[in-house]
Amino acid sequence: MFRFKDYYHNEVHLSFEEYPFSKDPKHVWVICRYGDQWLLTIHRDRGYEFPGGKVEESESPDDAAVREVKEETGASVSKLTYMGQYKVLGKEKTIVKNIYYAEIGEIIPQTDYLETKGPILFDSLPSDIGRNRKFSFIMKDEVLVKSLMKVTAEYI
Ligand code: GTP
Repeated sequence: MFRFKDYYHNEVHLSFEEYPFSKDPKHVWVICRYGDQWLLTIHRDRGYEFPGGKVEESESPDDAAVREVKEETGASVSKLTYMGQYKVLGKEKTIVKNIYYAEIGEIIPQTDYLETKGPILFDSLPSDIGRNRKFSFIMKDEVLVKSLMKVTAEYI
């Protein structure tokens, strides 16, 4: 298990075991690969980030992952792989997120991407994400670094 602080100095616990923090997490985050590119979404407030969000009532986390990718980018997930979980001990509440790796089949332009401005593709992710104001705070801690290491070592 890894422990570190996020961009806002909240404590984060990260593990790539099977559901280490919750069997019923309420948040999901999906590292998306479209061919040999990374697929992110442009969040209206936070900036560039891998898609994700909250699990709805009567929905499984896996279903939420597929739905959030579709809503935020227009992309269909062809293969979804559970990777791990992280827990953010926030000032007001603690949240647990499932991390997934998703292979994307196709990206279909949508008329509305809800709280995002739709998809953005990267051949490679910049090395200055931590200081880059275009990127969301959720991309600025060790969750991204450690998850990408696992993706490149095991899935690509
Ligand atoms: P709503 O108002 O119901 O949408 O919830 P919220 O705005 O409080 O946000 P949410 O429940 O998604 O998250 C609560 C807090 O957890 C946020 O304010 C963030 O500080 C933190 N948080 C959420 N997602 C992440 C994440 O992926 N990484 C990190 N480091 N913190 C996160």
